[in-house]
Amino acid sequence: MRKKIVAGNWKMNKSFSEAEKLITDIADALDDVNLRGTEVVLCPPSLYLEMAMDVAFESNFKVGAQNIYPEDSGAFTGEISPMMLKELNVAYCIIGHSERRKYFLETNEFLQRKVDALLKHDIRPIFCCGEVLPEREANQHFEVVKKQVEESLFHLPVEAFKKVIIAYEPVWAIGTGVTATMEQAQEMHAYIRGLIATKYNRQTADGTTILYGGSCNGKNARELFSQPDVDGGLIGGASLKTEEFLQIVTSF
Ligand code: PGA
Repeated sequence: MRKKIVAGNWKMNKSFSEAEKLITDIADALDDVNLRGTEVVLCPPSLYLEMAMDVAFESNFKVGAQNIYPEDSGAFTGEISPMMLKELNVAYCIIGHSERRKYFLETNEFLQRKVDALLKHDIRPIFCCGEVLPEREANQHFEVVKKQVEESLFHLPVEAFKKVIIAYEPVWAIGTGVTATMEQAQEMHAYIRGLIATKYNRQTADGTTILYGGSCNGKNARELFSQPDVDGGLIGGASLKTEEFLQIVTSF
């Protein structure tokens, strides 16, 4: 059975004290629920990772970063490295988010370097892919996602690939309140799994966790997670509210 994961992508939100409160509230709430094997991952801004790791040490969630630069160290002002994350024992790192592709011009090739840099330090990438609205309207969504996955991930040998989590996030659904239907999510997840089976093998495809992201909330999570190829979610806005996030993590 592949791992079910619900990850909260906090993006650039919360003051330090608000973040500390949210993390401890979520940690306390998680103590009282049966996650039935679902792994919860919180991805706060990098400045809060150390504090998050301190809370996570005695709690039922893992910590992920939102970004790295693909070098261990050097003259890259403003960036943080996977080596630094490793020192803190951060388990996951989101890469390829559409906001980074759009505002920071990150390409599939650059993301390939990030994948390699993370895996070198045994940090699991949560690799985001997804089409923008005009691409879906032009019926190019499968092609776009295929290219993203192929160009950033399919250089990996099979054992390394098995460490990767994929998050399908249709860009038109991110932060818009418009969620993909469960049929649209299932269709794309099954397609991605098919790509993995063709490139590697069926067993690897069946073992890969594929998350859905884009306006997933306490109301629609159960429907989305009920789909056979949807293994959890990457949650933005709704991960900033303890009760709603708890509702999502218990939606399997
Ligand atoms: P959203 O964001 O849940 O606020 O749509 C998801 C994401 O960007 O990962």
